[in-house]
Amino acid sequence: TCSAGDSQTVVIGLAADSGCGKSTFMRRLTSVFGGAAEPPKGGNPDSNTLISDMTTVICLDDYHSLDRTGRKEKGVTALDPRANDFDLMYEQVKAIKSGVAVDKPIYNHVTGLLDPPELIQPPKILVIEGLHPMFDERVRDLLDFSIYLDISNEVKFAWKIQRDMAERGHSLESIKASIEARKPDFDAYIDPQKKYADAVIEVLPTQLIPDDNEGKVLRVRLIMKEGVKHFSPVYLFDEGSTISWIPCGRKLTCSYPGIKFHYGPDTYFGNEVSILEMDGQFDRLDELIYVESHLSNISTKFYGEVTQQMLKHADFPGSNNGTGLFQTIVGLKIRDLYEQITSSKTAAPLEATKA
Ligand code: ADP
Ligand code: G6P
Repeated sequence: TCSAGDSQTVVIGLAADSGCGKSTFMRRLTSVFGGAAEPPKGGNPDSNTLISDMTTVICLDDYHSLDRTGRKEKGVTALDPRANDFDLMYEQVKAIKSGVAVDKPIYNHVTGLLDPPELIQPPKILVIEGLHPMFDERVRDLLDFSIYLDISNEVKFAWKIQRDMAERGHSLESIKASIEARKPDFDAYIDPQKKYADAVIEVLPTQLIPDDNEGKVLRVRLIMKEGVKHFSPVYLFDEGSTISWIPCGRKLTCSYPGIKFHYGPDTYFGNEVSILEMDGQFDRLDELIYVESHLSNISTKFYGEVTQQMLKHADFPGSNNGTGLFQTIVGLKIRDLYEQITSSKTAAPLEATKA
């Protein structure tokens, strides 16, 4: 076969439990690359894949080896590795990364069955999103960058209630029960992946309101690993120092309970990291430019690009708080990483002739 040469695909992993904001994050990411992602044309209408000019997002549920009935019969959940085909996941991600198209299965979320496969062409950037992008060591090693969305139990609960109770008519008890039922497998197989992530977005209840349990105001932490190739962490004011910042005042309108930023070095599962934290929410999104102008290393192409992206998608969930802000920033960092990888690749043949 002909080698893929400079057309090699950059592979990004995004891990999170379901209902934790992965698809919202993906919409922000594909927007940074300048296109809305659409389902593949002419394929299965139940396809979980999203394609745009630059990116293809595949959902790892497609690698379920057991369908809904199979899981019931064997008494395993979708989070259990035994319900997933990691050999196939590895083979196919490896093939795409090296420029070879694959016939990827489709897990049909409506019927709970495995549908006939769809052809996936190698894109410039492949995102694998789902429950287990960093579970299998072979798959993990194929990732150029990895992200974990860490939604605390309190917040997960608040989001589930909002969606499943308000939109799907489930009862409070049944929502509680389904979260509880998932918890052992979540703790065993999903949560441990965060130690491998290059960036973690942690979403917690606010500390600005004493004993808040509404889950509306959020404290969001962007945990960025040091020393990752093609990725240099964002910082506030002064790289490596420790800073608390309350931007509310003349240039930023804040109503109760206000906004508080924190930045500093830390360790996370034994790794050196930088953490940028935002607690609270914006009243006026256009004033985000004031915050943006104090952040460095955000990989924008022009002044105000973060604010522009946030305004463009003001209707997405989390646009007024740290979830939207940090997802947007991670999107810009991924664009930067992609550009660095592809430019170093075009320089590679020169290196080779030197030897
Ligand atoms: P996933 O793709 O992981 O299943 P979605 O992006 O579809 O998750 O989000 C699921 C639901 O969670 C949304 O409908 C919304 O109610 C809630 N949600 C997601 N992200 C946020 C956020 N940043 N702030 C508030 N609610 C959110
Ligand atoms: C997908 C989701 C899981 C969810 C499952 C439903 O695989 O990613 O998070 O649990 O569907 O499984 P069920 O066995 O209830 O059909």
